[in-house]
Amino acid sequence: MREIRFQNGAPMALEMHKARIVQKLHLLSAEDRLKAMGEAGFNTFLLRSGDVFLDMLTDSGSNAMSDDQLAAMMHADDAYAGSESFFRLETKIREIFGHRFFLPAHQGRACENILMKTYVCEDSVVPMNFHFTTTKAHITLNGGRVEELVCEEGLRVVSEAPFKGNFDLERLERLIQTVGKEHIPFIRVEAGTNLIGGQPISLTNMIGLRSIADRYGLKLLLDASLLQDNLYFIKKRESAYASLSIRELTLKIASLFELIYFSARKVGFARGGGIICRDKTDFDRMKDFVPLYEGFMTYGGMSVREIEAIAVGLEETMDEEVINQGPVFIQYMVDELVRRGIPVVTPAGGLGCHLDARAFLAHVPQTQYPAGALASALYIVSGIRGMERGTLSEQRDPDGSEHLASMELVRLALPRRVFTKSQIDYAVDRIDWLFRHRDMIGGLRFVEEPATLRFFLGRLDSVEAWPQTLSDRFRRDFAE
Ligand code: F0G
Repeated sequence: MREIRFQNGAPMALEMHKARIVQKLHLLSAEDRLKAMGEAGFNTFLLRSGDVFLDMLTDSGSNAMSDDQLAAMMHADDAYAGSESFFRLETKIREIFGHRFFLPAHQGRACENILMKTYVCEDSVVPMNFHFTTTKAHITLNGGRVEELVCEEGLRVVSEAPFKGNFDLERLERLIQTVGKEHIPFIRVEAGTNLIGGQPISLTNMIGLRSIADRYGLKLLLDASLLQDNLYFIKKRESAYASLSIRELTLKIASLFELIYFSARKVGFARGGGIICRDKTDFDRMKDFVPLYEGFMTYGGMSVREIEAIAVGLEETMDEEVINQGPVFIQYMVDELVRRGIPVVTPAGGLGCHLDARAFLAHVPQTQYPAGALASALYIVSGIRGMERGTLSEQRDPDGSEHLASMELVRLALPRRVFTKSQIDYAVDRIDWLFRHRDMIGGLRFVEEPATLRFFLGRLDSVEAWPQTLSDRFRRDFAE
C-alpha cells in the first residue's frame, strides 16, 4: 500500500483530492452556542445545522461527492419501472461483490427492516460482533434478541489490537450449542464495528466464521455499511492479504456471505442502500417487501440520481488512494489527542475519532450520561457537533432500568473528503482546552425521553448549571 511520508519517514495526512465546490461555514459566538445547546435539549441531534461550525455528528450521507458522481447524476433515468440507472447499479454490484441478486432500499435501516421481518421471529437469537442501534431495534421489534460476541479486546478503550471488531469464535460456538441453531436466523457481521469506535474485523476472523457457519448450517449476513474503512485496515494490518487488491479483497469477503446489506450513506459516498443476495431463494423471500415498504424494484425508495451516484461511488471505493483518506485523517487526529494525554479509543479506527467520555469525565456517573454531557460541552466551547455513543444511545431494559453501555464514547465523525487538516487542528485544540477544564463539566438528565431510539429525539437538561459556568470560563480565556 502506497503511503505518502515526511522526510523523516512519518506518514503524512495529505488530501488526495482538491476542493472545487465549497460550502460556507458559520461559527456562532460562545454565547449563542450556549443558547443553541440549551434550545436543543442538550442533544446534538436537535441542533440546527446552521448553528454548527464543524459537523462531526456522522459520516452518514455527509461524505463529499466526486465530480464523476455529480456527472453521473445528470444522466439518471427517471423511469418508475425498469430504470436504466438501476441496471447500471445492479451491474456494478455484481462486478464488485460477485453476487447476482440485489434488492434496493432507501437506506441501511430499511434493509434491516426487510431482513428482520423476513428472518427474525419470537425467540430468534442473532449473534453479532456488536450491535448497531437501528439493527438492534429492528431485531427486538420482531421479537428477537441480540447476542454480542466481540472479542475481549474490542471493549478495551486503549489497545494495540489491530482487529478489535473480531468475533470471539469460541463464544460463538458455545452460544450456537446453547440456544440451538434452529433459533439463529443468521450470524450478523458488522464491518468497521460502529459503536466500539469504527474498529475493523479481520478477513481471517471472517473465514473462521464461515467454517463455523458451515458446520452448523447457518447463514452469514454482512453489514457492509463501513466496509470501505475495513477494507483499508485489512490491506494495511493483515499481512497475509496485503498482496490482494481492494477489488480482490472485496470479492473474497463477499464470497463468504449469503447476505450483504449496506447503507450507501456511508459506503459509496452517496445515499440509499440495498441487500445483496447470493441465492435466489433469499431474494425471493424478501422481494415483496421492496414495493411494499420502499418503492418499485428498480428504485427502492432512492432517487435515481442517488442510484447513479452509488454506482460511481462504489467504483471509487475500489481505489486505495480514495479509501485511505478517512482512516489517515482519523489517525492524525487520534495521534494528536493521544500526544496531549486525552483519552481516546485506540488504535484509530474508521468513521471517526472517539473520545472516551468515561475517562474524560470520571466524576460523572454513567446514569448522568457522561458522553452526552461531553458532546454538549464540546459544542458549547467550539461549535463542533459530535454524537453521543454511550448509555444514552442504549434502550432501557424491559423492566425500565438503565442499560449501562459498555463504552461511553463521543464520536467525532470525519465524513470522507470533507474536512481539512487545519479544521482538525482546531478540533484538537478545543478538546485539549476542554480536557483541562473537565472538572467544570457535570451530568445530564432526561426531560423528555422517547421509548425507542431515545437518543434521536430525547430532550435533556444539565444537572446543575455547569454549561453556563463552562461557557463563562471559555469566554474569559478566549476573550470572546
Ligand atoms: N449499519 C451500520 C453499521 C451503520 O453505521 C448504520 C448507520 C446503519 C446500519 C443504518 O444505516 O443510517 O442508512 O439507515 N449509521 C449512521 C451513523 C446513522 O451515524 O453511524 P442508515
